[in-house]
Amino acid sequence: MAGVKHYLQFKDLTREEYDYLFDRSRRIKEMFKSYQQYWPLTDRTLVMIFEKASTRTRLSFEAGMHQLGGSAIYLNTRDSQLGRGEPVEDAAQVISRMSDLVMIRTFEQEIIERFAANSRVPVINGLTNEYHPCQIMADIFTFIEHRGPIQGKTVAWIGDSNNVCNTWLQAAEILDFNVHVSTPPGYEVEPERAGLYGTDHFEQFADPMAAVKGADLVTTDVWTSMGFEAENDERMRDFADWQVDADMMRAAGKDAVFMHCLPAHRGEEVSAEVIDGPQSVVWDEAENRLHVQKALMEYLLLGRVNS
Ligand code: CP
Ligand code: NVA
Repeated sequence: MAGVKHYLQFKDLTREEYDYLFDRSRRIKEMFKSYQQYWPLTDRTLVMIFEKASTRTRLSFEAGMHQLGGSAIYLNTRDSQLGRGEPVEDAAQVISRMSDLVMIRTFEQEIIERFAANSRVPVINGLTNEYHPCQIMADIFTFIEHRGPIQGKTVAWIGDSNNVCNTWLQAAEILDFNVHVSTPPGYEVEPERAGLYGTDHFEQFADPMAAVKGADLVTTDVWTSMGFEAENDERMRDFADWQVDADMMRAAGKDAVFMHCLPAHRGEEVSAEVIDGPQSVVWDEAENRLHVQKALMEYLLLGRVNS
């Protein structure tokens, strides 16, 4: 509905809004770490709709909403009328009359867009086949904590050009950094599906070792995303040479950090040596989902605050 601010993909916010949100995330994290009670969302309700499995997204949104003084309600396809064919538009009308904020994890981006078009309250993308914006907000916040501003830096994406990769590519355009992508043949980035404005901020490499050379951040994700399980055997064969291993991290350089949105498969997209090694920041990355999403929920409901 007109006038409601949603977060359906990374480019829904501007660089200036991200600057604010990263500052705000830092402040909210400090308050949480120092046991300072902060309840700006008392009596507000977040509805979380999951059509796919989750550990981090559910936990970080649910805990985050409680920490801000509100409550969170979990719905899934199996136990709600969504699984019995109630139109998304009708569900949006009803759910958004009884809540203040909705987070959705679903399949096609089109589903969340239809929901948002019929929602009276802000809708947040908790992962679709195309995008995972909350993840990249957390990843960039983590990079800033470890290495400072991301502008002008190089991120190497190794593996599948999936929802997380697409979101890195959008973020590079908004925040002005570069992404080197290396995928097996047949799995290349589709700029239109990624929702890009142009091709200035990314480069595709046939050789993953060339893609990681000099990168400030090396990242990857599962070879088979949720919803693509039928392709698993074929993907295991196709991606075998795209594992992020110690040689790749050496080619990137000792100051490069390693990230993975998790869950990870050691021995497939990443070696145990890398994900459990000194350059990996994956646990900070996972924790930061909590802090950035609290800043995001506060922003969507209350706008900019100073406290
Ligand atoms: N990274 C992430 O979104 O994890 P979950 O699938 O556990 O939510
Ligand atoms: N690309 C993965 C991310 C999981 C958090 C998936 O969509 O399954």
